[in-house]
Amino acid sequence: MAPVIALTGFMGSGKTSVGRQAAWLLGWDFVDLDVEVAVAAGKTIPEMFANEGEVAFRRLECERLRAVLETMADGTGAVLALGGGTLSSPEAVDLLRGAATLIYLEINADEAWRRVARSDRPLARDRRSFVALLENRRALYEAAADHVIAVEDQAVASVARLVADIARKYARDLG
Ligand code: S3P
Repeated sequence: MAPVIALTGFMGSGKTSVGRQAAWLLGWDFVDLDVEVAVAAGKTIPEMFANEGEVAFRRLECERLRAVLETMADGTGAVLALGGGTLSSPEAVDLLRGAATLIYLEINADEAWRRVARSDRPLARDRRSFVALLENRRALYEAAADHVIAVEDQAVASVARLVADIARKYARDLG
């Protein structure tokens, strides 16, 4: 089984940018689950939320997660950036358990909002509900995480190096 590192954390925590750099440092594959979902749907995530709704989005997200993890198991090592809400599906948590080491990129609400307020993310429209969602999700991230990295005071490059260090150790332990 190939080593797989999955990055979790709230919107704006840097899962995609950190994941891409860590994969580059490791010489591993990088996959962004949001991109996988959008490609499979043939539309953007905001379009999916608007047309089919969040439940349909979560269904497709789990389906793509299963497929991506199957492919990664046969590869040589991969970093996977999850969506901020992937772990809200119990099925996704089950799929990840045993298939990947989970690193939680922890960010506070102010910094997360500062980073995504002007993006087109469907769940980042209103500050109050954004902060409430972060507080609700925190327990999910903490329960699933094998490692936690607090990201708000660190550059992407240094978080990526920490992720790569964890990944190398994990790969060594796997044999
Ligand atoms: C979501 C986070 C987004 C994307 C979708 C829903 C969430 O991913 O999956 O907009 O529920 O937190 P990022 O965390 O990569 O922004």
